Amino acid sequence: MVCLGNICRSPLAEGILRSKVDKDKIVVDSAGTAGYHVGNPPDRRSISVAKKHGIDISLQTCRQFSKDDFNIFDFIYVMDKNNFDDVILLATSELEEKKVKLLLDEVDLNINEVPDPYYGGTDGFENVYQMIDIACEAIAKKVS
Ligand code: 4NP
Repeated sequence: MVCLGNICRSPLAEGILRSKVDKDKIVVDSAGTAGYHVGNPPDRRSISVAKKHGIDISLQTCRQFSKDDFNIFDFIYVMDKNNFDDVILLATSELEEKKVKLLLDEVDLNINEVPDPYYGGTDGFENVYQMIDIACEAIAKKVS
């Protein structure tokens, strides 16, 4: 799960998807395309909205996406088109490029990007939580 900062959207996506899959079979992780917040915990607003829904993401640590992730993961879900472009730039083969998908392309909502809630209010985090949850439900069904 990849977003820009790895403190708002992708930590939620990591926590939500992990809560829906068999931890012994599926490895779920998240990263940011930028390194602004490396080593930090998720944004307190993401921690809070996850907690409200019974998911603890407070122990996650921000890291930056790296080329090695293409070797480790079968699917790389990005939150928006900027993330998509940034990750594709790091791919070194068509096989790697094909692993990269917009998260919301897994579902039929009326938008295909998870909006960045960083500069908005708490409502934005709940909204983002709901759309990520729907997409993760579809992914969990697909991979289980
Ligand atoms: P995220 O949100 O990509 O969902 O983690 C952001 C977090 C931090 C910043 C931008 C977006 N920032 O500019 O620091």
